[in-house]
Amino acid sequence: VSHYLTDTFNRQHDYLRISITERCNLRCLYCMPEEGIELSPSTHLLTTEEIIRIAKLFVSQGVRKIRLTGGEPSVRRDLVDIVSSLHRIPGLDEICITSNGLALHRKLPKLAMNGLTALNLSLDTLVDGKFQMITRRNGLSAVLKSLETALKLGLPKVKLNVVVMSGVNEEEVLSFVQMTEDYPLEVRFIEYMPFGGNKWSGDKMVTYEDMLSNIQVVYPDIARLKHKPGDTAKVYQIPGFKGKIGFITSMTENFCSTCTRLRITSDGNLKVCLFERETCWIGRVGKHA
Ligand code: GTP
Ligand code: 5AD
Ligand code: SF4
Repeated sequence: VSHYLTDTFNRQHDYLRISITERCNLRCLYCMPEEGIELSPSTHLLTTEEIIRIAKLFVSQGVRKIRLTGGEPSVRRDLVDIVSSLHRIPGLDEICITSNGLALHRKLPKLAMNGLTALNLSLDTLVDGKFQMITRRNGLSAVLKSLETALKLGLPKVKLNVVVMSGVNEEEVLSFVQMTEDYPLEVRFIEYMPFGGNKWSGDKMVTYEDMLSNIQVVYPDIARLKHKPGDTAKVYQIPGFKGKIGFITSMTENFCSTCTRLRITSDGNLKVCLFERETCWIGRVGKHA
């Protein structure tokens, strides 16, 4: 196509995120209350066919990358079918999943064979007791198994999403950095954001600047790589290391003006921004410019 979905801020939307379920098998402190969230009736959920129909329409309008999200996408039993049907859409270059990895490792070989190009795994700690505290469930070893499987399968892109919170996992930043020495993965440190009534407090947030300067104490030659427009992360690498280190600076340096994402909720609504139903932060005068 020669035209793209371009909005009034002149952003060309070529990346569609489809939430395929609101349900999740974890209860991360920063995302969900212990009792879970109120779910829409399951009859409101998009069916496999509807998801593929929507995907085809968006690809015909210039979308080149689709990410399946949740909740936790692997709780849907048709996940592999959805990925393999997406794989048959001509013009779609990237099929990605964001998952907590808890129930994923057995599905990964099939997903990889059926066209999955990228996996972003959410993992905030490498310590068992902390995993339990943050996610309110057990399962660190299952998540690590998914990571290992993804790396063994040689998926083109594997990233780890680490939400950094002071007093919780801040002191593990260097352990995650260390993982990039031998593994070709991108570890992304995310600034903790207010979200879904998570009782966010500024004291818990660790800024990009602080994370980077702590890393620089040990790795002074860490170097910034070129930024691609629309990227959520600022990406760095330590010379000689196989992997990369990214920072998602939603709080201190937001990337709204270059955000190229569109979102479909699990009940089929369109959202232009993570934080709002039908508006975007950059549309609000004086706020989050
Ligand atoms: P890549 O395609 O690998 O760049 O992934 P992604 O960053 O688009 O998606 P992912 O699902 O891995 O999300 C990573 C982090 O980015 C999460 O913490 C999200 O909350 C945050 N994020 C994703 N989209 C947006 C957005 O539009 N605005 C803001 N502020 N944060 C976002
Ligand atoms: N702040 C920052 N990141 C968050 N995520 C979920 N809630 C928050 C929050 N309040 C991250 C998860 C997942 C990604 C999709 O969003 O860790 O990796
Ligand atoms: Fe589930 Fe992801 Fe929310 Fe954790 S952050 S409760 S894994 S949806």
